Amino acid sequence: MIESHIYEWVNLLVRWIHFIVGVAWIGASFYFNWLENNLNRNSPQEPGITGNLWAVHGGGFYHLKKFKTGPEQLPTHLHWFKWEAYTTWLSGMTLLVIVYYFNARLYLIDPSVRDLTSGGAVIVSLVSILGSWFVYDVLCRTALKNHKRLLATTLILYFTLLAWFLCDVFSGRAAYIHVGASIGTMMVGNVFFVIIPAQRKMVSALEQGRKLDAAMGEKGLLRSTHNNYLTLPVLFIMISNHFPSTYGHEWNWLVLIMVSLASIVARHYFNIRVVMKSLWWLLPISFAMMVGVMWFTAPNPVKTSDVFNNQDAIVSVMSVVSQRCTVCHSETPTQSGFSSPPLGLVLDSIEQLEINADKVYGAAVLTKTMPVGNLSGMTDEERNLLAGWYENFAKGEN
Ligand code: HEC
Repeated sequence: MIESHIYEWVNLLVRWIHFIVGVAWIGASFYFNWLENNLNRNSPQEPGITGNLWAVHGGGFYHLKKFKTGPEQLPTHLHWFKWEAYTTWLSGMTLLVIVYYFNARLYLIDPSVRDLTSGGAVIVSLVSILGSWFVYDVLCRTALKNHKRLLATTLILYFTLLAWFLCDVFSGRAAYIHVGASIGTMMVGNVFFVIIPAQRKMVSALEQGRKLDAAMGEKGLLRSTHNNYLTLPVLFIMISNHFPSTYGHEWNWLVLIMVSLASIVARHYFNIRVVMKSLWWLLPISFAMMVGVMWFTAPNPVKTSDVFNNQDAIVSVMSVVSQRCTVCHSETPTQSGFSSPPLGLVLDSIEQLEINADKVYGAAVLTKTMPVGNLSGMTDEERNLLAGWYENFAKGEN
């Protein structure tokens, strides 16, 4: 009991930290992208300056300048913006261990997808995340780096393959998080292995009075552009756990890729809108893609059991629920690791089942995301029975 409670609090604290440092990282990154796109480069500039921007915020006026190459002399205090990225990765990996490795059987593995052992699943997880960084880094060092569009297309193909593979080995929910963790690792790898080292070289060149070489910034710029476009897909993946109609869909990998592409198109629009106003149609395209996914993921009618009277139906459905659901969804869960009903959903009585009929039907019949990892071994007949009760008696009651 107390272990479950402590576990919940460790989860809460790490998740909160991950969220806070993630906001700081993405916030700084959004800000600098915006700044770069909105610098005033037209009016006459001071010598050595390529653009500047006036802003008012939080009750004060700010005046920022961007140097063509760098300042003559290094200032005593130079801010780096790197710990936001590192701590986001560290807390994210910790959360992955806490949620998915400690409870591999519950969240990582879905026997109806693939009956992995816990150890096997953890190995697949680590290999997919670290291997993705390796594949990406190698691709960026090949001749592809001079063909930015071809490189981008190759990366999209790689991630499509990864999403398909992960959805074929893990529970949908874990597969999504792993695509996100792989992309996030790539983004942090870019900061740690490429962008920051390039900046270090620039700083030491300045210190030694050498002239700055534009090529130093080039490599960092390619990686930084990738990070920019990958931000929105990662953010979607991080909230996807709340949306079983995405990760629980039969074609979940395709849904993930479509939503990611739609968000990349939207990101592109915001990147170029200042200079290329004529590309306004990118935004409606992105929106149309999302509507397309919404339509594609709409639930199909399901096979239901024979019609019986409501009294019989509710009794047999209740017996299924008390076998398959209330180990967790009860005021007093018996499943280890649960000290309270998940998301407050309690299914101890017929009344509670009837009030939550829509949710129960969605989770156990439409998306089959419940029971988690099918831990309690719900059968297809039981799902059909639930569907029959819902279609004939419970639908539209609440
Ligand atoms: C092994 C424990 C476990 C079992 C068994 C289980 N669930 Fe869940 N359920 C969870 C957890 C954990 C969550 C929260 C998932 C999350 O964080 O998104 C959840 C969430 C849900 C939700 C979403 C609630 C909301 O408000 O969005 C529904 C609906 C649900 N379960 C229905 C069921 C049904 C129906 C069954 C039985 C067929 C069942 N669950 C069996 C653990 C379980």
